[in-house]
Amino acid sequence: MIVLGIETSCDETAAAVVVDGHDVRSNVIASQVDLHARFGGVVPELASRYHLENICPVISKAMSDAGLAYPELDAVAVTQGPGLIGSLLVGVQAAKAIAFVHGKPLIPVHHIAGHVQAPFLSAAAAGGSIPLPALALVVSGGHTHLYEVPEEGSYRLVGRTRDDAAGEAFDKVAKLMGLGYPGGPVIDRLSQGADDHAIEFTIARIKDGSSDYSFSGIKTAVLLHVRRHGIQPVASPDDAPQEVRDLVASFERAVVTALLRRFKAAAQELSPRSLIVTGGVAANTRLRREAARTAESLGLPIFIPPIALSTDNAAMIGAAGFVGFRMGRRAGWDLNASPQLPLG
Ligand code: KG4
Ligand code: ZN
Repeated sequence: MIVLGIETSCDETAAAVVVDGHDVRSNVIASQVDLHARFGGVVPELASRYHLENICPVISKAMSDAGLAYPELDAVAVTQGPGLIGSLLVGVQAAKAIAFVHGKPLIPVHHIAGHVQAPFLSAAAAGGSIPLPALALVVSGGHTHLYEVPEEGSYRLVGRTRDDAAGEAFDKVAKLMGLGYPGGPVIDRLSQGADDHAIEFTIARIKDGSSDYSFSGIKTAVLLHVRRHGIQPVASPDDAPQEVRDLVASFERAVVTALLRRFKAAAQELSPRSLIVTGGVAANTRLRREAARTAESLGLPIFIPPIALSTDNAAMIGAAGFVGFRMGRRAGWDLNASPQLPLG
């Protein structure tokens, strides 16, 4: 079953061809990072305009890289939401046009279902499978959610952030320190070899016993520390002095510790057969290393997609589309983008 996946929910224009949910024949991404970097974050109007310019070339390249013509597709899968409305619309309209013209089924995909599917894709590509039920930590720029995954394509919400997403905290702290956008990769790099115990940032524990997260407090704690010690933003990440490296390393340690504390507690409570960490923040070196340790301490296998499949991409949308297709999920020609689409 050959699926064309299309993803335009935020600032990446992406298309991929995936066969049987795990064989990635092409995976094309046009990133807008440079475009938004000078504004310190994604500018929605610019994002939609750029998607519009890039969607046709990106899809054409995905098809030619896979060596396929449109009539050979079995279905077209597209991110319906959540995300930026203007960005989502570009992908949805492109997917509808291709599916309509070539008479193919159109499959709507939830962006987070795509992220959760990424490790299933990479595990299957390596000839393995993920024991279910799994407990999945989805950490991206817009989401910090814990889901129980009883079977592929079904999700039960276990916990979520009550305010900022973990990736958002990375991006805001980076912006504060003049480190540019997106913040995660540069904080990851500057933290390597720095003193991550220089500052003891604590992350609020939610005291009602739930598995929820909160990341808005740490951003304020970093701001207060910076003001109190007169630390100046840097002109470029390469000029970051040791005190800034130590600061971001301490921040990163606090975020990763908080992410894994709840993750571990939920695993102990729910007794899943495996763990998953996915989403853009799953590209983080410390999170990958510490999550593996957490899994080892619990005696559970852990599945983290390779970095290219952790951050936004369309292969995960093609893979999730395959699962949706098997479950009978189809969209009509009236499919609309849904910025607040709930999962489930
Ligand atoms: O999944 P994603 O590509 O897009 C969304 O769905 O939001 O996630 C983007 C987020 C950004 O906040 C970015 O700073 C963060 O993932 N990120 C990282 C790393 N690479 C990307 N955070 C920490 N460490 C990284 N290496
Ligand atoms: Zn994402």
